[in-house]
Amino acid sequence: MKSKKIIIAGGTGFIGEEMTKYFGKENQIIILSRNIQHTKTNRNNYSIISEADKGNIHYLHWDGKTLDDWITSFEGADIIINLAGKTVNCRYNEHNKQEIFDSRTNATKIIGEAIHNCTVPPKLWINASSATIYRHATDKPQDEYTGEYHDDFSVQVCKLWEKTFYEQRTPFTRKIALRMAITLGAGGVMIPYFNLLKFGLGGKQASGKQMYSWVHIEDTCRMIEWLYDHNEVEGTFNCCSHNPITNEQFMTTLRKVTNTKFGLPAYEWMLRLGAPLIGTEVELVLKSRWVIPTKILETGFQFRYSLLEDALKEIITKVPRKQYHLF
Ligand SMILES: NC(=O)c1ccc[n+]([C@@H]2O[C@H](COP(=O)([O-])OP(=O)(O)OC[C@H]3O[C@@H](n4cnc5c(N)ncnc54)[C@H](OP(=O)(O)O)[C@@H]3O)[C@@H](O)[C@H]2O)c1
Repeated sequence: MKSKKIIIAGGTGFIGEEMTKYFGKENQIIILSRNIQHTKTNRNNYSIISEADKGNIHYLHWDGKTLDDWITSFEGADIIINLAGKTVNCRYNEHNKQEIFDSRTNATKIIGEAIHNCTVPPKLWINASSATIYRHATDKPQDEYTGEYHDDFSVQVCKLWEKTFYEQRTPFTRKIALRMAITLGAGGVMIPYFNLLKFGLGGKQASGKQMYSWVHIEDTCRMIEWLYDHNEVEGTFNCCSHNPITNEQFMTTLRKVTNTKFGLPAYEWMLRLGAPLIGTEVELVLKSRWVIPTKILETGFQFRYSLLEDALKEIITKVPRKQYHLF
């Protein structure tokens, strides 16, 4: 993809930075952030945006809930990607829950309004969603056609996020909700895994039988390019490899590619005890996410990283060894 104008709301996080790096070489990128002073430092990952690429990247301030000067940047844009939302990696108390909901719905609503007000509306609007919208599945994989939804907190968040997205009236802008699985790259969710490996805790978590749907960040970016090029497609797409594995297989593969000899398991009681201490929720590890990307495969898209081992091997090349080994 070349010479496109791409706006990324919430583009300062792990996925946004990786997308900026991927698209920033040959396209104009505008990032909407609540805190543009902090955006020069890469907080979440090792594959830092190079100085050479920074010329194409501009930051605009927004608060994620009100229309302001930033809306003019939407005129004639090729793609709007909305990733904004408070991290779900926190305790689910009432305050945090409300912020998780509000940050996603407010950002989605104002992006809808901004597009609605454009004289030359953007061609494509991709709104993040999550593969965790599907139920805890240990019996069969979930896809866009037959997937089932139960009503736990994370499912409610995703349902409201997508409902808000589809409620926005943007008749001249194609809309795609991207249900992203756990996204793997040199940062983000890999950081806690590397810490576990380093301290000898890289064994399975709980029974290890819970399914783990994943996608390599490069395939996420490639999928966005593909969706842009395929004018005929819109709606909801799962963004995950077609080879999900179990938690135990994930940890075994991670140990293999990092040449880690052993890893102690974390039993469920340990996770339940430890989660509040480190300010997170045990559900993030215990939920069985068994999701497959039926719709994107039907369009002919091919994943570069279909196998976890290949994905992790590539990621490891970008991470300093001291990050996952003590010596
Ligand atoms: N990483 C994954 O594996 C994964 C999987 C499925 C879905 N997702 C979803 O994809 C999106 C991006 O993921 P990520 O890993 O890049 O997340 P991230 O690193 O937490 O980044 C999200 C960005 O959202 C903005 N943000 C945070 N709180 C906000 C608030 N209260 N109001 C408005 N904006 C806020 C922040 O930008 P500023 O501080 O610069 O404003 C932040 O950089 C998230 O919505 C996440 O839920 C991620």
